[in-house]
Amino acid sequence: MSLSRLSIDAFRNIDSAQLAPGAGLNLIYGHNGSGKTSILEAIYFLGMGRSFRSHLSQRVIQNDADALTLFALAAGQNGESRIGLRRHRNGDTEVKIDGDKVKRLSQLAEALPIQVITPESFSLLFEGPGARRQFIDWGAFHASKQFHLAWMNTRRILKQRNQLLRDGSSYEHIAFWDRELIRYALEVTDIRNQYVHSLNAVLKGIIGEFLPDADVRVSFTRGWDSKTELSDLLQTQYPRDLAMGHTVSGPHKADLRLRVGNLPAQDALSRGQLKLLVCALRIAQGKLLKQQIDKHSIYLVDDLPSELDAKHRQLLLKELIDTGAQLFVTAIEPAAIVDSLPVPPDRMFHVQAGRVTETK
Ligand SMILES: Nc1ncnc2c1ncn2[C@@H]1O[C@H](COP(=O)(O)OP(=O)(O)OP(=O)(O)O)[C@@H](O)[C@H]1O
Ligand SMILES: [Mg+2]
Repeated sequence: MSLSRLSIDAFRNIDSAQLAPGAGLNLIYGHNGSGKTSILEAIYFLGMGRSFRSHLSQRVIQNDADALTLFALAAGQNGESRIGLRRHRNGDTEVKIDGDKVKRLSQLAEALPIQVITPESFSLLFEGPGARRQFIDWGAFHASKQFHLAWMNTRRILKQRNQLLRDGSSYEHIAFWDRELIRYALEVTDIRNQYVHSLNAVLKGIIGEFLPDADVRVSFTRGWDSKTELSDLLQTQYPRDLAMGHTVSGPHKADLRLRVGNLPAQDALSRGQLKLLVCALRIAQGKLLKQQIDKHSIYLVDDLPSELDAKHRQLLLKELIDTGAQLFVTAIEPAAIVDSLPVPPDRMFHVQAGRVTETK
């Protein structure tokens, strides 16, 4: 996928902007507070129906406006599609793809696979397992048509199960639901496991470039003891689950383990190296998606120069360009990126107080 047109209305400090991005690297530059991250956020919002910066989607609607509107022409292997999204202050959201109303946001995500690399990407490693699970599930979602439904069903039944546990239900009553839960949970686990396995193959080459001296190992943990059948676990853990009022182990606790030698990655690598590891993971996901379903991701790269030296900045930009994906890269000074690029940027956009001008 790549965007050939993008229009943004009433989004953060951007009143109205029309961009004609190139299929390669698009450099967005401007002073602090000019609206660079907001442009990336608008693209992300169009692909995901939410922000990567704020959990409160209303905050992205421009102050004093009733609704934000985003529109893009997206070119992919099946031709061009028109994607539009309007979000009202009361929370109502309308999404259209080629004029047809879209009910589920997952259809948007399927149409526009987006990868974000920001200074906050660190959270992938440092925060709880939630962000790492989201990382696996991004890949599992795009790689397998079965994943989304199986995961939605797993979550739905887990929620019911937890309610039954809080109500003090007997094991016999819960076991009825467990049979269905096990079926979906094993499907989810199988897809995740296969995905991380495939990802590892692609990741090795990139890590070899970025962190040649580090023995990085990435592995999948499914959320419960690897020697125990899920059916046995749910049965033997029932008293504990009942006491806790929720299901303690299961596919909702799956994780991605990142280790260097025998240490957790965050204890073995510097901040800059961790950033490179996160970038390697995201680049590997994009490359794998291309291999698996012949679809390009769109990369949103915010504030790339921070904490990377010139050599690694060059290496990272080269790897990103080599994916063949469309890139949106922000910088305060364009030279910080241009000087690290093997070829000139495709397009450049200057942002000043929410106004966007194409300068190349
Ligand atoms: N809902 C909103 N309505 C209007 N303006 C907003 C809204 N939300 C944020 N802003 C403003 O938008 C401006 C642009 O923010 P943004 O984060 O996009 O800037 P930036 O160019 O990425 O800056 P930096 O270089 O510091 O990262 C900020 O000044 C912010 O105060
Ligand atoms: Mg910014």
